Amino acid sequence: MGRVVVVTSGKGGVGKTTSTAALGAALARTGQAVVVIDFDMGLRNLDLVMGAELRVVYDFVDVIQGAAKLPQALIRDKRIETLFLLPASQTRDKDALTEDGVARVIEELRPKFDWVICDSPAGIERGATLAMRHADAAVIVANPEVSSVSDSHRIIGLLDAKTEKAEKGERIEKHLLLTRYDAARAARGEMLTIGDVLEILSTPLLGIIPESEEVLRASNFGSPITISDPSSALARAYVDAARRLKGEVVEMTIPSDKKGLFNKLLGRRASQQERMKTCNTEAGAKNLASDTRRTFMSDRLSGRTAVEPAVNSQQQKMKDCNATAGEQKLTGDARRTFMRSCLKGT
Ligand SMILES: Nc1ncnc2c1ncn2[C@@H]1O[C@H](COP(=O)(O)OP(=O)(O)O)[C@@H](O)[C@H]1O
Ligand SMILES: [Mg+2]
Repeated sequence: MGRVVVVTSGKGGVGKTTSTAALGAALARTGQAVVVIDFDMGLRNLDLVMGAELRVVYDFVDVIQGAAKLPQALIRDKRIETLFLLPASQTRDKDALTEDGVARVIEELRPKFDWVICDSPAGIERGATLAMRHADAAVIVANPEVSSVSDSHRIIGLLDAKTEKAEKGERIEKHLLLTRYDAARAARGEMLTIGDVLEILSTPLLGIIPESEEVLRASNFGSPITISDPSSALARAYVDAARRLKGEVVEMTIPSDKKGLFNKLLGRRASQQERMKTCNTEAGAKNLASDTRRTFMSDRLSGRTAVEPAVNSQQQKMKDCNATAGEQKLTGDARRTFMRSCLKGT
């Protein structure tokens, strides 16, 4: 019997569809039979990312409404024999997917595939709950920023309440996939740290996917990133995540591409400009002028005095909320609920 996995997030635009395609292709490349299902009716992004948009004849809704049999709607990938797609419909009718219909389709797919991967629409409404309904496991996709993390938190609540497993009193397996991680921005303190995200979501980490322009290029090309450029840092991060999903123990790293000399030089120039900017801002904030300002700037730029660490508002907020939760001695669910509302500022 195959495993049903939902790729979900709450917030839109965090990388669910990209991750569904990349993980699906990575699993299929190892010879496993994989079907990816697009639950995002109306948007229909997954067929584009898979490069199958011109091959769609029948879709998920046609199967549910009896206009086509399931095998007629499944599209086999041209590059990997064991990878299939069940496309979404163009319809914007939110009721086109019925509970019974979805249940029948999943039941028919489960014995035929090793993996049934459901690409959820954004939000916490019906579409998202239908996508997670039959899941054995969930991949919760989040970006390291407050709004994404707090939406993921709500999705975790739904996974524990509205899935078949939850109704049977069983726990759904949950994995956190941190996407669009930008090491440079993290170093500058412009994003939540990985530790912050893990602390609030308290869900085991499936992988860290770097921010990369390669994603756009691959999706324009209609190729999951794990097929188009398997040796890239991005693809390696997804391949590792897919292996962890299979239960393999793989050391957690943030793969990065080795930069060429040209990029290194560009990077150095950019970082010098960045330093100058930071020093200027600091001097401005301290109201320094003339000689004092010059001494301050030259000390800072030559590295004689350390730059004060930049604490961005997101990290500050997280720190404040954590401190209050600590003062109130909140733990477990109570702490998580408090953190959610505190981070949202309610
Ligand atoms: N690792 C990444 N680096 C850069 N851009 C990304 C990355 N992952 C996703 N994106 C981009 O973010 C946007 C949303 O991705 P998508 O997978 O469609 O998200 P969702 O399905 O959650 O709405 C797309 O434009 C996609 O190209
Ligand atoms: Mg999507």
